[in-house]
Amino acid sequence: MASGLRIVRTVKALRAAVAALRRRRRVLALVPTMGALHDGHFSLIRLAHRQADLLAASIFVNPTQFGPNEDFRRYPRTWKADIAALRRETTDLVFAPDIKEIYPEGFATSISPKGPALASLEDKFRPHFFDGVATVVAKLLIEAMPDIAIFGEKDYQQLLVIRRITRDLDLPVKIVGGPIVREDDGLALSSRNIYLSPAERKNAPVLYRALKESASAIIKGERIGKAIAEGKAKIENSGFAVDYLEARNAETLAPITYATEGPIRLLVAAKIGSIRLIDNIGVPINRIGNK
Ligand code: PAJ
Repeated sequence: MASGLRIVRTVKALRAAVAALRRRRRVLALVPTMGALHDGHFSLIRLAHRQADLLAASIFVNPTQFGPNEDFRRYPRTWKADIAALRRETTDLVFAPDIKEIYPEGFATSISPKGPALASLEDKFRPHFFDGVATVVAKLLIEAMPDIAIFGEKDYQQLLVIRRITRDLDLPVKIVGGPIVREDDGLALSSRNIYLSPAERKNAPVLYRALKESASAIIKGERIGKAIAEGKAKIENSGFAVDYLEARNAETLAPITYATEGPIRLLVAAKIGSIRLIDNIGVPINRIGNK
């Protein structure tokens, strides 16, 4: 069991701590985060506990994945609460570098993923995002060298991008996806939910309701195009501007027109006021009717 939480701030200290811990226990899991931790993050930590005997988390608000007009500066930072929670969750090691540690003077390398990173979903609205995510995640994996790294299905495209880069770069790590944790009314937990006004918060579960309704319409045999159009209208009627609501192949993110074209994932991104929320859901294909 964990003998206490160790906090390290440099790559050198991280490598020394991992080497020392590995002398006693074998399987190391890493859960990368940007902090402002909530039950979605903790579910990944608990999943990591079940699959590894040594647990590291990273907390780093990664500037390169934010666009110039995005919320890097006002991204929530809740260091004390995060560390207290990680201690409760019996985390062994926290890597919390500052920006200069990850991007030192003269830093000039970027990983530019293609494939699922160019699926015309998040990438279309956040063109900086996946280069920033791929670069920082590759660095974190190389720095900590975990056996397992855990990411949430909440960021479904991100999960597929990370699977792709670890395969393409031969990183010796198993990528594990964890299910989406939701509030009782269906809203997917997110560090950004605290920005929602009470009225926006009340409307926000419409994203999940629309996903579920579109999914059951498809399962009942409705045309995908129609099911999606109805879902979109439902979301827009609640005051959201929809960036996308799409049915994609769950493994490749290729667009899907007919239910027979493979395992389906419905993905949505929508804005209410200045807050942008994303969510997604699997459509259990084996329950699909004849059409
Ligand atoms: P962050 O938004 O902090 O999320 C960290 C991890 O928690 C991600 O893998 C995300 O998918 C997962 N997560 C967030 N909300 C969740 C929920 N409601 N249910 C299940 N999992 C959830 O994603 C990032 O940070 C960054 O892009 C990162 C991968 C750390 C790279 O900077």
